[in-house]
Amino acid sequence: MNVVIIGAQWGDEGKGKIVDYLAEDAKYVVRYSGGPNAGHTIVVDGKQFALHQVPSGILYKDKTVFLGSGMVIDPEALFDELKMLKDNGIDWEGRVFISDRAQLILPKYRTMDKERDAQRKRPIGTTGRGMGIAYAEKAHRDGVRLADLDWAEKMAEFDGEDLEYINRYKDQLLSMRVDLVAKMHEFKKDNILFEGAQGAMLDIDSGTYPYVSSGTSCAAGACTGSGIGPHEIDRILGVFKAYQTRVGNGPMPTEFNEADESESELCRYVRDTGREYGVTTGRARRCGYLDLVALRYACRFNSMDGLVLTHLDIYDTMDQIEACVAYEIDGKIVTDFPSNVDMLNKAKPVLEKFDGWKTSLKEIKKYSKLPKNARKYIEFIEAFTETPVSIVSVGYERNETFIRKNPWK
Ligand code: IMO
Ligand code: MG
Repeated sequence: MNVVIIGAQWGDEGKGKIVDYLAEDAKYVVRYSGGPNAGHTIVVDGKQFALHQVPSGILYKDKTVFLGSGMVIDPEALFDELKMLKDNGIDWEGRVFISDRAQLILPKYRTMDKERDAQRKRPIGTTGRGMGIAYAEKAHRDGVRLADLDWAEKMAEFDGEDLEYINRYKDQLLSMRVDLVAKMHEFKKDNILFEGAQGAMLDIDSGTYPYVSSGTSCAAGACTGSGIGPHEIDRILGVFKAYQTRVGNGPMPTEFNEADESESELCRYVRDTGREYGVTTGRARRCGYLDLVALRYACRFNSMDGLVLTHLDIYDTMDQIEACVAYEIDGKIVTDFPSNVDMLNKAKPVLEKFDGWKTSLKEIKKYSKLPKNARKYIEFIEAFTETPVSIVSVGYERNETFIRKNPWK
């Protein structure tokens, strides 16, 4: 069976935690997009792991993980990450493989990425990891893939620092290479979990372009970024937080207005309680009300079978919760997510109010045990997005999670 996990917002939804949680029932985990721009956090027995390129199933000893064809891989950062795992007692050798169709990031791409963003009239606020350059080189047909490393004619195109860099990692990379199309076919009868990076709203085609990342982070990317066709996908789950965050620039209609005293206080509370600081760059994340207009849009273009709600516990002490159900743009009410950045920048959120539950959710292990007001909030989200909430997370630890509908069954 094949289950795809994607971010349903602008990234940082808790995908790492959920992939780790669902990986227990999988044999293989495939990361299908992005690269070192991702930051997936997993907490097990108080110990925190921050993964960037290695798929989140790695913490289980019996899982084999793959870095997919849709990824752009920074070898230096990857081997640092693998070393960090080893230093922390995670034996990964023989369990981490890379698609021979995956592209490589050269060190100069990082510099080019930062320079280009600094020169932009409207900077995107990239992570500076060379992502956009690597994907652009790929689209230019000038990129370098793992499969090219022992293609002499291609290698003859490199010299100096680039060649020295490639040669430094070549043997290690080639020892981990696989034909992922063949592997996916071979594993047809097994449970495979596909791990998305970034989020639906950062997808190059359907996100808030140009304020997006450069990979295919939507659910369809699980096919193009691994080597299976759309018929092979059994379930698609989208992870979202009980509120909204965004890092970097670009429109965010429900962002808390820090000039307003009560919203600025709320912003500080959500950012600190939700630990909303970037895992990759350390930047403070922009925070706001849950944007149901954007979430419904993400559900639609990803054919989501279910949603995974994370950080619900952040609201435990609040009297009232608000979520956005429409935008007001130039005096008109808009309920479909606009593609025009100007419209999104002008959008004012129309908010629906919900009563808080004023109790800790930390120990809850079953949907029926949630306070009535928490269930009301969830049921409203389900009705609005026309998508069931299948899994709920109420804390950082692996076991602070409960399932309503198991995607593997
Ligand atoms: P995970 O997988 C949140 C954002 C960057 C920037 C934009 C483009 O942890 O959810 P890039 O370096 O990719 O060209 O930057 O995309 N961004 C993310 N935001 N979570 C992520 O990944 C992100 N990956 C990229 O902040 O606004
Ligand atoms: Mg992140």
